[in-house]
Amino acid sequence: MKNLKPFSDTTLAEAASILRAGGLVAFPTETVYGLGGDACHEAAVKKLFTAKGRPSFNPLIAHLADATAVFDFAHNTSSSQLLAEHFWPGPLTMVLAQRSDSPISSLATAGLDSCAFRVPADRNAVALLAAVGRPVVAPSANPSGQVSPTTAAHVADGLGDKVDLILDGGPCQIGLESTVIDARGEIPHILRPGAITADMLAAVLQIDPRRIQSAETGEAVNAPGMLASHYAPRNLLRLDAPQPRQGEAYLGFGPLPPYEGPSLTLSASCDLQEAAANLFAMLRSLDNQTRAGIAVAPISDNGIGAAINDRLRRAAAPRDNP
Ligand code: TXA
Ligand code: MG
Repeated sequence: MKNLKPFSDTTLAEAASILRAGGLVAFPTETVYGLGGDACHEAAVKKLFTAKGRPSFNPLIAHLADATAVFDFAHNTSSSQLLAEHFWPGPLTMVLAQRSDSPISSLATAGLDSCAFRVPADRNAVALLAAVGRPVVAPSANPSGQVSPTTAAHVADGLGDKVDLILDGGPCQIGLESTVIDARGEIPHILRPGAITADMLAAVLQIDPRRIQSAETGEAVNAPGMLASHYAPRNLLRLDAPQPRQGEAYLGFGPLPPYEGPSLTLSASCDLQEAAANLFAMLRSLDNQTRAGIAVAPISDNGIGAAINDRLRRAAAPRDNP
């Protein structure tokens, strides 16, 4: 594919000039590949929503190369300041109140007063953001509702020529999208679980982790984009399956049971980090191999396991168009 190029000084400069001119560039982060566009460029943001087929009510995350720049666009609170110091750069996204003079396109924020911000840790992503010198909105680089990409080839499969350039920086290290929190109040709420867990946030804020409500257990806090059915492969999923049934593909956790059908293990040693990094790529490779669907082993809810189980529940949720 001619628009897929390895990361180098030359392709980075090319990517930065495409973004500054209002084009779209897919690039790696430590979580998943993002589809980048200039956050302040209305036409670029519009093109981005169209390329993904994303509903316009679902706002985007603005990415910046360093934490201090975020507070040029958004108000901080004592908790967001502390969390920024501890977790940025890294896989945490904070929803913050925008300053009244924020130049971020209202299309990007779906017309909300708030905006989600993230400072990624991936070296290549930071270099690109620094070269652009403006906030870059970047949703996961997949058609809306499908499984997020953790390699450049996944991006090319899903978006292909709808993107001006795809930068290949190898597989993503974490493999699941960032933790999204609403950080406008003194106590944050988790809108989307990820590698930064409630326990980790609570330890920094020195509060009881149970006070950090998650969207599922909490009241009406929700990220507009957390649609029940999401991250969906084409095949149906059957969760908490200790064994595959005849005809199913099997996604295991731990050593695989003897089975003649297609099967893969997320981690032979039950390592949750390894399982997170493998999840999306393995769902893709088992998808459509059988008509009976994919059975998935039970996975511990500890640490990043909660985020893995969140994505699996969404992948298994009933769909409008099965
Ligand atoms: O790891 C990640 O976060 C990746 C990489 C590329 O940075 N990006 C990503 O973006 O996953 P996306 O667009 O696929 O998911 C963003 C999530 C959505 O659930 C969206 O609804 C929520 O963040 N969100 C964005 N702005 C928000 C806001 N102002 N208030 C509440 N939720 C918001
Ligand atoms: Mg996404």
